[in-house]
Amino acid sequence: MPAREEAAREGDGRTSDGYTTDAALYAAHADESPWNRWYERPALDRLLTDDELAGALVLDAACAAGAASEQLRHRGAAVIGVDSSHPMARLALARRNGPTGVVSTDLEGPLPFADHSFDVVYSSLTVHYLADLGTAFRELARVLRPGGILVLSTHHPFDEALRVAAHRSRMQIDSYFRTGTVTEQWAIGGQPLGRWLVERLSLESLSAVRARRRVSWRATRRTRLTVRFQRRTLSQLLNPLLDAGLVLERVGEPLPSGELISRFPRAGALLRRRPGFLFLRARRPHPTRRSSTNVDR
Ligand SMILES: C[S@@+](CC[C@H](N)C(=O)[O-])C[C@H]1O[C@@H](n2cnc3c(N)ncnc32)[C@H](O)[C@@H]1O
Repeated sequence: MPAREEAAREGDGRTSDGYTTDAALYAAHADESPWNRWYERPALDRLLTDDELAGALVLDAACAAGAASEQLRHRGAAVIGVDSSHPMARLALARRNGPTGVVSTDLEGPLPFADHSFDVVYSSLTVHYLADLGTAFRELARVLRPGGILVLSTHHPFDEALRVAAHRSRMQIDSYFRTGTVTEQWAIGGQPLGRWLVERLSLESLSAVRARRRVSWRATRRTRLTVRFQRRTLSQLLNPLLDAGLVLERVGEPLPSGELISRFPRAGALLRRRPGFLFLRARRPHPTRRSSTNVDR
């Protein structure tokens, strides 16, 4: 693998939402939250075996601040991350044991990688941010080697529908079949963010110190992260993946672990009633060899 890239390549920065304006806050949240650390990352990791990861080159799409990349490296993979948020890309690069290299680019456009570059594409909680899922899955399939594996997690379409049915939703939808862009605000924060940043960013870096001062006061109270995502039905999620030539191998709707339930009773109770996220594993098939004995009939 090349040496750790020191600078994130500049993308077009079109993620003009909380992942850009509040990258460090989200990063601290994702490192510890019941939904990310205790539910989503373990479930997505279970879709890959240690044998599949040992020595594999993995594309983490999108890597955010690198929490999943760190786990993938821990299991023996080399990891390249992409993310359209420049602040996220910088945090991922600064993370000890984060991705080996990070490219700040958009998953809805051409990816700057050759065909068949990766053994595994790992996409944690990201495809619901992509409006053009067809382009994204075609590009992810292109950069996967034949036989390579895609795993992803995303908002569960039924979870959103159940929230609507229970009249507990602040979502701007009233039907399972109403799709399109949804804007939400998530309450996050309350973590010792100043310490989190010191651990991840070099203290020699003046900009890191400034960043720490700028955000640490916010860490003591809950903050609202604004996110804009695409609400889709199940078929609108799965068909672009199948159209890209990928073969679905596994679907996951895990229940929360006992540890999650005892540490976070409220989140645990919710996850026992409603599927939080949907987990998929798909494979890029090997090209089928055309038999030379084929004759026109
Ligand atoms: C919920 S976070 C992903 C969680 C992350 N994998 C982790 O382990 O913490 C979603 C990420 O998707 C990125 N993102 C959103 N739209 C994108 C796009 N069009 N192209 C690339 N990245 C995008 C955001 O910047 C954000 O970092």
